[in-house]
Amino acid sequence: MLIRPRRNRKNQVIRDMVEENKLHLSDFFFPLFLTMGENQKVEVGSMPGIYRFSLDLLLEEINSCIKIGIKSFCIFPVVEDKFKDKYAIYSYSQENFYLKAIHKIKENFPDIVVMTDVAMDPYSSDGHDGIVEHGEIINDETLEVLGKMALAQAQAGADIIGPSDMMDGRIGYIRDALDGNGFTNTSIMSYTAKYASAFYGPFRDALDSAPKSGDKKTYQMNPANAREALLEARLDEEEGADIIMVKPALAYLDVIKNLSSYSSLPIAAYNVSGEYAMIKAAAANGWLDGKNAMLEVLISIKRAGAKIILTYFAKEYAELVQ
Ligand code: PBG
Repeated sequence: MLIRPRRNRKNQVIRDMVEENKLHLSDFFFPLFLTMGENQKVEVGSMPGIYRFSLDLLLEEINSCIKIGIKSFCIFPVVEDKFKDKYAIYSYSQENFYLKAIHKIKENFPDIVVMTDVAMDPYSSDGHDGIVEHGEIINDETLEVLGKMALAQAQAGADIIGPSDMMDGRIGYIRDALDGNGFTNTSIMSYTAKYASAFYGPFRDALDSAPKSGDKKTYQMNPANAREALLEARLDEEEGADIIMVKPALAYLDVIKNLSSYSSLPIAAYNVSGEYAMIKAAAANGWLDGKNAMLEVLISIKRAGAKIILTYFAKEYAELVQ
């Protein structure tokens, strides 16, 4: 045999030398759940190791992440039912605890990157990402709410706005709302190819934000479609997105690959709650090696072409490589 690929695998030094992809701590966003009150740290039942924090303890959590090299966070609010309504008015109210918290976080840690979530579902009494009228999610009226929400988040100090709602035209609408108010430096990471997925289940438990009726198939993408992601990517580029995202990650590695060859924008992927829960559940049962499964999954997302990875494993990974 002239060619023996095993020679390049014969010891760890050579394996490291020929390694094509590496994870860096700077690749990661760590998603965090913010709840009201004080001194609250409640584990999410379906996401072992992930908590809903009140602001005081969230600040401590962020501090401990910074110390081990995690500097980017996306933060999601857990909103009490009494603040939810049909039009998600609380989302851009000056009283919103989430907006106040973003301000406080940036005041305490000016050098980190904070991404906020734009979508109506945490604030919607219908549990949908847009306004529900006669059983339909109405697009253009929803844009007005999203624009106000994005602007309020930028005013609170968000570095990156993360529209996760999948309404048509929202990136351009939000870009205009930001620019028109002087926030030309606030970035947008678009949830470009967000699929109607069963893997968001644990997140909806964490936020108590599951749809009250129907599903999200009229706005989130059909899992059967790959080419359609290119259409979404083209629109988001034209409308001014800075970073485009694929979500979930693992069942959509081909989509990550396609977008990374198609677009010159940085590609992000969201390793979602259900993908985290699967590994945690199997590891807790002794059915697989949780640590190695985590490492394999994270590198697969990078290999597929995502430079940026949003993952509930971020802190655990950082602790491991420390
Ligand atoms: C809501 C939103 C969802 C997630 C992020 N933003 C859930 C949904 O669309 O129902 C899911 C994240 C995860 O599962 O980790 N706009």
